[in-house]
Amino acid sequence: MVFVQSKQHHVAEWVKYLAIALMCGLVAIDGISSALADSGKAPAQQTEINENNDSAPRLVVESDTVAARLGGYHGILAFLHNFAVPVLLADSEIASFFGNLTQTPAEIEQCLAMMLDHDLGGSSRHSGTTLESGHRCRGSMPKIHQGRNIPDEVITKFIGIISQQAELAGVSQFDIKAIAKVLERSRPSIRNK
Ligand code: HEM
Repeated sequence: MVFVQSKQHHVAEWVKYLAIALMCGLVAIDGISSALADSGKAPAQQTEINENNDSAPRLVVESDTVAARLGGYHGILAFLHNFAVPVLLADSEIASFFGNLTQTPAEIEQCLAMMLDHDLGGSSRHSGTTLESGHRCRGSMPKIHQGRNIPDEVITKFIGIISQQAELAGVSQFDIKAIAKVLERSRPSIRNK
C-alpha cells in the first residue's frame, strides 16, 4: 500500500516536471519566432532600435498629428509669415482682395495659424482667442469674407499657392493633402460672399 502510494507520488512529480519543461520550450520557441519576425521588418518599422549597440533600447517616437509635425501654432505661423503670405500677396489677383482690411495682416496670419493648428489636431482654439493687439479671432467664414466677392478660382489659386509653398518648405505630401483638405472645407462659406 505504501509502495503504491509512493509510485503514484512519483508519477505525479514526473507529470509536473514534464509540464514545466513543456512550458519553457513554448516560451523559448515564441521568443525565437518573435525575433525572426522582427528581423524581417525595415529598420524604421521596428519599435526598438539600438544605434550604438548599447544595451538600452530606444523607442522611435513619431508625432501623430499633422499640427504637431508642422510645429504647432508657432510652426504654422512661421510658415504662413515666411513662405505662404509673401507669395500670396505677390499675386496681384489675390492681393486685390486684401484692401480695406478691418484687421492687420499680422492679425490675419495669427488667427489663420490658430485655425489651421486647431483643424489639424493642435491645441489652439478654432476662434475666439484675443490676440496681444486686442483683436479677437473670428470664426464665421461668411462674416469674415463678407462683401469681398471672392470667386471660386481665386480660392483654388489661394489653396494651390499654400500647398506649393508647403512643398517648398519640406512638408510631406501626406500633410500637404491634409492642409488642403482643411482649407477646402471653408470654400463654400467664403465663395462669392
Ligand atoms: C481657403 C480658406 C481660407 C480660410 C480658412 C481663411 C481664413 C481666414 C481667417 C481665419 C481670417 C482672419 C479673421 C479673423 O479672425 O479676424 C481671414 C481673413 C481674411 N481673409 Fe481669409 N481665409 C481663406 C481664404 C481666403 C481667400 C481665398 C481670400 C482672398 C483671396 C481671403 C481673404 C481674406 C481677407 C481679405 C481677410 C481680412 C478680412 C478683414 O480684414 O476683415 N481669405 N481669413
